[in-house]
Amino acid sequence: MESMSRISNIESKANFSGDEESEISIKEAVGLRRNFAIISHPDAGKTTLTEKLLLYGGAIQQAGAVKARGEQRKVTSDWMELEQQRGISITSTVLQFEYCSNKINLLDTPGHQDFSEDTYRTLAAADNAVMLEDAAKGLEPQTRKLFEVCRMRNIPIFTFINKMDRPGQEPLALLDEIEAELGLKTWAVNWPIGSGDLFRGVIDRRTKDVVLFTRAERGKQATEEILKLNDSKLQNLVEPELLNKALEELELLDLAGEKMNLDNIKNGELTPVFFGSAMTNFGVRPFLEAFLEMAQRPIGRSTKEGIIDPLSNDFSGFVFKLQANMDPRHRDRVAFIRVCSGRFQKDMTVRHARTGKSIRLSRPQKIFGQDRAVVDDAYPGDIIGLNNPGMFAIGDTLYTGSRVEYEGIPCFSPEIFSWLRNPNPSAFKNFRKGVNELREEGAVQILYDTDQSKRDPILAAVGQLQLEVVQHRLESEYGVSTRLDPLGYQVARWVDGGWASLEKVGRIFNCKIVQDAWSRPVLLFKNDWNLNQLLEDHQSLSLSAVAPVVSGVEPITL
Ligand code: G4P
Repeated sequence: MESMSRISNIESKANFSGDEESEISIKEAVGLRRNFAIISHPDAGKTTLTEKLLLYGGAIQQAGAVKARGEQRKVTSDWMELEQQRGISITSTVLQFEYCSNKINLLDTPGHQDFSEDTYRTLAAADNAVMLEDAAKGLEPQTRKLFEVCRMRNIPIFTFINKMDRPGQEPLALLDEIEAELGLKTWAVNWPIGSGDLFRGVIDRRTKDVVLFTRAERGKQATEEILKLNDSKLQNLVEPELLNKALEELELLDLAGEKMNLDNIKNGELTPVFFGSAMTNFGVRPFLEAFLEMAQRPIGRSTKEGIIDPLSNDFSGFVFKLQANMDPRHRDRVAFIRVCSGRFQKDMTVRHARTGKSIRLSRPQKIFGQDRAVVDDAYPGDIIGLNNPGMFAIGDTLYTGSRVEYEGIPCFSPEIFSWLRNPNPSAFKNFRKGVNELREEGAVQILYDTDQSKRDPILAAVGQLQLEVVQHRLESEYGVSTRLDPLGYQVARWVDGGWASLEKVGRIFNCKIVQDAWSRPVLLFKNDWNLNQLLEDHQSLSLSAVAPVVSGVEPITL
């Protein structure tokens, strides 16, 4: 920690120019890498925190470039037409920056109402998550949902409680909420002195130093004044009653709270909690440094053949996201690959596990918003973009050496369902092409009525914006205007054991039975109450919110 603070003044640089690490072993490269995604609810301050982190990494010159607001909304990650029209960021990009020689990959998940399956899938490529909370609001719905995905993989979660410069909830109550509602133990790394107008700073729990809060000019890095607890100057700077309250609370935590335990952090049972204020830049640097110290290095991933060691000499990776038309001038498609083992090198020939084909990867890219740079090397934990002429699907594995196939990425439970109508029969060919390609790309899930006469696909999404994006893209990329007819369902469940299990329970009520693209039964419910009723009535029935991963089976198309 100490040494990091000392070198933090050395200018760190963005690793975006395509500049590559000179000869470095895979072990060294993995040792230097950390990768994470931020999970939060809209408005908690994700964009602001991202900007500040990038600023420390020197990846952007001035905070504000990630999401310039209002008139100046220019972009680092907003590039699609719809994004620009609506002023939102739909696509998640990967932002790589360096700090104290470490290479940090921030997997940027879409933030706002633009919540979609992309957000979930990006988490499948992350090794750590940062859970960002607004101190006044505590846990919010989107954060809870995203947390569940992190929980499925037991990845370490670092909590940043933001907006301490504004009146917020009691810090102890915020920790209690995380523990009680998420079942996640907490360990406060620092503890706030006051809040809102009376926010005076934090006490670093490990060094017992007081880090004083000074409101920085917007967009600038704050100066952090650090005093020892027994420094006499403190009395003039912090009201004694505020300091005493913070110290009492810390004592309580020391006595009754969880103990710091790195193993428990690494297996996702204990979350280190930091209090700060991203906007005023308070607590961001200490957070980044503690994160680098405690976060998990790129980890081995499960395949049918067992867990693959990231240090293996053979390259392997999987596709976690596909994006079409990143550059509207070229109508290109990009597959994002998470490197899992070995060294990736430009022009290398790899095997595509699903088809068995050999592919030469000649134009790998790093993508940062609209900018791209060709990458020569990449290591476990890195993300690369590959041109995808329709060859890659979500979850596909690429490898060299002996065959491996990573466990695919599950389909997450959709909550919004709508018939997709094509009012113009002469456009059916394009409609079909568009629907099939957008499904392949993972833009939306497609369900089908079991009644063959109802041929229209049902779009199933986790966020309303996903539906709008599909409609917009069908129109702009395939030339088809479509209509959405919402179905009044909100909950989807896959049936364990498939059609056979469903037949055993006989007739069921208050739900609609449809099938997914792999012909598996999916039950749609109007609400949780109907779901619970069914489960009560048919205790032998077992349902899942997340679809089991499919491999080796081709999906049905429209
Ligand atoms: P998001 O990406 O999670 O949706 O949140 P974003 O960073 O856009 O922040 C949402 C709002 O919260 C912004 O205000 C932002 O300035 C503010 N904010 C973020 N961090 C802090 C903080 O530490 N303290 C305080 N007081 N505010 C914070 P806005 O009014 O929506 O935008 P703007 O007018 O500031 O541009």
